Amino acid sequence: MRYWKTMSATRPIHNLALIGFMGTGKSSVGRMVADTLHFTFLDTDHVIEARAGKPITDIFQQDGEPAFRDWERRIVEELARRDKTVIATGGGLPANPANLASLKTHALVICLWATPETILNRVSGHDHRPLLNDADPLLRIRELLAARAPFYRQADVLVNTELRSIREVALQVIHQFHMAQSGPR
Ligand code: S3P
Repeated sequence: MRYWKTMSATRPIHNLALIGFMGTGKSSVGRMVADTLHFTFLDTDHVIEARAGKPITDIFQQDGEPAFRDWERRIVEELARRDKTVIATGGGLPANPANLASLKTHALVICLWATPETILNRVSGHDHRPLLNDADPLLRIRELLAARAPFYRQADVLVNTELRSIREVALQVIHQFHMAQSGPR
C-alpha cells in the first residue's frame, strides 16, 4: 500500500471519514472498517436518500445538483455530533471546502484514490450515479477527477486502492486511524 501523505495533526479524532471519487470503495471499505472497529457505519448518500424520500438520481433530476449539495452540507454539519462513526461520503462532498473543514474537526479524513480507468471499470454496470450518465464516461471521470483532486489532496491520508482488495485497503485505513489516535510521533 502506498500513502502519499501521513497524519501529523493533533486534534480531537473520534470518527473516521472516507472521501474520494465514485468507485474508489468508500462504502465497501467503510463498512468493513466499521465492523472491525465496532463503530457505526454511515453513508451520507443513504442518509440523504432517506431524508429526501427518493433516490439520488431523482434528487438530481427533479431538484437539481445544487439541492443535492445543500443536503450534503446539512448532513455534514450534523456529523460533528457523532462519536465512533465511520462516514462514507459522496464523491463530490469535499469539493465544498466548508464540508472538509467540518469533517476535520472530529474525524480523521482518509481519501481513497484510483485511476480514471479503474474507476470506470468499477462503476460500469451501475446506473445510480447521475454525474456519470454521459456519452463518454471516461472523459467525464477524468475531468471531474482533475477538478476535484485539489480537494481530495487535503485529506489527512491518501490511500491508493489500485490492485488492492477491499480488505487490504480497510486494514490500511484502520492502521492509519490507530496511528492518528496514538498522537504525534
Ligand atoms: C457524486 C457521488 C455519488 C453521489 C452523487 C454525486 C459525485 O456518491 O453522492 O451521485 O458528485 O461524485 P459515491 O461517490 O458514493 O458514488
